[in-house]
Amino acid sequence: MRYRLYREHKYLVAFFSKTLQECGCLDFSSQKSIEALKESLAQLFALLNAHAEHEDTRIHTLLKVKGSTVVDKAESEHEQHHNIYDVLNEQLQAISTESSDEAKQALGYQLYLALRDFFAETLVHLNYEERVIMPELQRLFSDDELREIDFATYRQMQPEQMVHMIEALNPYLNRNDRAVFFDDINRVEPEKFSIAWEELKELVGSEEARALESKLIIAKPSRSLDPIKKLKYPWEDVEPENTSQIEHHNNKD
Ligand SMILES: [Fe+2]
Ligand SMILES: [Fe+2]
Repeated sequence: MRYRLYREHKYLVAFFSKTLQECGCLDFSSQKSIEALKESLAQLFALLNAHAEHEDTRIHTLLKVKGSTVVDKAESEHEQHHNIYDVLNEQLQAISTESSDEAKQALGYQLYLALRDFFAETLVHLNYEERVIMPELQRLFSDDELREIDFATYRQMQPEQMVHMIEALNPYLNRNDRAVFFDDINRVEPEKFSIAWEELKELVGSEEARALESKLIIAKPSRSLDPIKKLKYPWEDVEPENTSQIEHHNNKD
C-alpha cells in the first residue's frame, strides 16, 4: 500500500460540520448568538487558510516542479475561498445590523444555505485532492519523498505540540491513521516522540499502545512533558477581527 497524505481532512470535515450545525441551530434574534457564530466562522476560516497554505507551499510546489498541472484547480479554489469568507462575513454582518426580527430570520436562513453550499464545495475540493492529486503525487514521488512533506512540520514541533496535534485529530482518526502519524513522527523525531508517547499511549488505550510499542522502536524519554504549556491552534482561539488579518496576509502571498 502506497503512502498517502491528507489524513487531516477527517478533522477538517468534522470541524466544518460542527460550525454548520451551530449555524443551523442559531437563534438569529440573539446578538450574543450571532457574535458566537462570528467567532466560530473566524476559527473555521483560520483552519481552512492554514490548511490551504500548507498544501500550496508544501505539496503543490513539488508537483509544479515536476510539470504537473493537476494542482491548478485546487489552487484556484483556495483563492476563491477568500471571496467566500468575505461574502459569508458580510451576510453575518447584515444580520447583525438588521433591526427587524423577521428579516434577521430570513437572512439567517440565507446564511445557512450559503455556508452549506460552501461545505458542499469543500467536500468536493477535498475529494479532488485525495482522488486526483494524491495519485499524481504517488506517481511522481517515492513514499519516502512523500513522507518528507510532513516531516518538515514535525521537525519544527515540540513534544507538547505533537501531543496537542494528535489530541485534536484523534476523535476523527482510525487505528491505521494513528499508526501512520506515530510511525512518521517517530521516524523523524524519535527523541521528541518518546517524550510525547508518555501521553499519547494513554490516548490510544492499552491494547493499541502495546501493539504500537512492539512495532515502533520508541526511545527512552529524556524528560517529561511540560504540563503547564498551554497550546492552542490559531483556529482554537482566534478572535473574529484576527481572521481578516490572516486573510489579508494570505492574499498578499
Ligand atoms: Fe485544499
Ligand atoms: Fe486539503
